[in-house]
Amino acid sequence: MAREFTTVGVVGLGTMGAGIAEVFARNGFEVVGVEQSDEQLQRGRTHIHQSTNRAVRRGKLDPQDQQAIFHRLTLTRSMSDLADCDLVVEAVVERLDLKRSIFSQLDKIVRPDAVLATNTSSLSVTEIAASTSQPGRVVGLHFFNPAPVQQLVEVVRTVVTEPAVVEEVQGVARRLGKNPVTVGDKAGFIANALLLSYLNRAAAFYESRYASRADIDAAMRVGCGYPMGPLALLDLIGLDTAYQILETMYGESRNRLHAPTPLIKQMVTAGLLGRKTGRGFYTYEAADNPTVVVADAETPSPDPDPHRARSLRRIGVVGSGPLANGIVKAFGNGGLEVSHAADLGSLQQVGEEDLVVEAVSDDPEEKKAVLEHLGKVCGPDAILATTITDITAVPVVEIAVATGRQQDVVGLHFIDPTASSDLVEVVSTVSTSADVTATVQALVMALGKQPVLCGDRAGFVVNALLFPYLNDAVRMLDDHYASADDIDTAMKQGCALPMGPFEVLDMVGTDVSLTIQRQLYRESREPGLAPAPLLEHLVTAGYLGRKTGRGFREYSAP
Ligand code: 3HC
Repeated sequence: MAREFTTVGVVGLGTMGAGIAEVFARNGFEVVGVEQSDEQLQRGRTHIHQSTNRAVRRGKLDPQDQQAIFHRLTLTRSMSDLADCDLVVEAVVERLDLKRSIFSQLDKIVRPDAVLATNTSSLSVTEIAASTSQPGRVVGLHFFNPAPVQQLVEVVRTVVTEPAVVEEVQGVARRLGKNPVTVGDKAGFIANALLLSYLNRAAAFYESRYASRADIDAAMRVGCGYPMGPLALLDLIGLDTAYQILETMYGESRNRLHAPTPLIKQMVTAGLLGRKTGRGFYTYEAADNPTVVVADAETPSPDPDPHRARSLRRIGVVGSGPLANGIVKAFGNGGLEVSHAADLGSLQQVGEEDLVVEAVSDDPEEKKAVLEHLGKVCGPDAILATTITDITAVPVVEIAVATGRQQDVVGLHFIDPTASSDLVEVVSTVSTSADVTATVQALVMALGKQPVLCGDRAGFVVNALLFPYLNDAVRMLDDHYASADDIDTAMKQGCALPMGPFEVLDMVGTDVSLTIQRQLYRESREPGLAPAPLLEHLVTAGYLGRKTGRGFREYSAP
């Protein structure tokens, strides 16, 4: 029968360590927290105070229980105070030499039957274990930020971890109300391996000024329902931690997509580590304070410049499918007068309008034909917008040049094919005039939708960030590192994403996902973006997801 652990040590009381200590103390364990200095101990205590105060304020914890938490918590600078612990969780900074030195000390301090765990985000648990005399009792126990909130813990088993130790630690995780997912010792485990490449890509987008900070974040929050945008999440995780994880992942994989984008290193060097230092991609009221200062809380895309945005009186829509109908409805709901031309033959009906949206089909050739005619029939001041769907597969500029007046052309990507989503990507090509973009941005806002301004690159913002992550998940599955269920659970319960990657792939369709991934790969020729072979095989086999009753999973009804 598994032992009942009662006393747990936590070494390192930074953001994660303090959260971990809190979780154990809240669940009835006696906790011994160790830090190097009184200052760091005080910081850890304040962290737990703030977190439990918040729970008291929200009526989730009564004040007596808060006191009991602090009674169960001993804070000390002496590692020898860990001698009676059944389990010690190390949560110091991501430095292998430091972790190995702590484990070799712990090995001599704790009882021979005590379990030693590391909360490392990406370092090799095996290498850490090798610094002890009993590597069989060393395991990874990886929590997610904020530790009291996220339900997932990854239990990392090395090739020498004793099975009984894994079971005991899984049991402890369950006593904490967490869901343990057990994985092998590979850099980034499940969640970080998938999350960090996505965050790195988002930071690179920001670095290349492809879209603004707030637009990148809004794109993923509004477009995918993520609880936080990637740049805000980097600030939460800490840029130093993110940098370290990416470095380790790159060291293991040599995948260029894991190499930290230079901006991350520069910010780390400058001390802009995110929330913990009060400044990262955003500026916070103080260190460890989650409130973004007002001056810095840039609205998603700066408001359209009123001097630039043209006034629009009349709007036309071309097309007869669900997208065109959805756009007509959205304009109508926004109180705009809309004329509607079903096809190429009736374009004269929109010839007088100030802005015409083409939504005829997914086919670039049909789009070009319509745009070419619109370029002729519309007045010289008219703006022409072309809708790009997930499978259009050409840059906006290729369609725009057909008009012979490409400065007047902008791309629109509605995240939802019926235009009912709240997010619209407004795509400027190399030729689009600034006033054209500003006008369309203002229009999207007037419809009560969220515009995201971006350049004319494959996948724009949402797809370019989402699909490489999905593709990485497919590779992970194909490598037999984790099951689809474990990967979905890890992303939903570790990062609070609304759906796991395989749920998304089956919903979107493996065929559509493959088309998007191919576009991303074709544009960049980046080997890490090549579609995962398993995705190709599913499409070849006709397993297209929910719509065919089978994709990564089987469904009783499409
Ligand atoms: N500590 C404790 N509790 C916290 C907290 C904190 N720092 N921040 C928020 N909470 C609690 C709140 O008290 C509230 O609890 P309740 O529902 O019981 O009342 C709940 O979380 C929701 O909080 P808020 O309403 O204040 O705020 P949001 O709804 O905006 O949620 C969030 C904030 C929990 C941070 C949410 O945005 C989220 O889950 N974001 C994703 C974070 C993520 O991806 N984490 C994983 C990062 S990767 C990682 O950690 C691994 C490492 O190795 C790098």
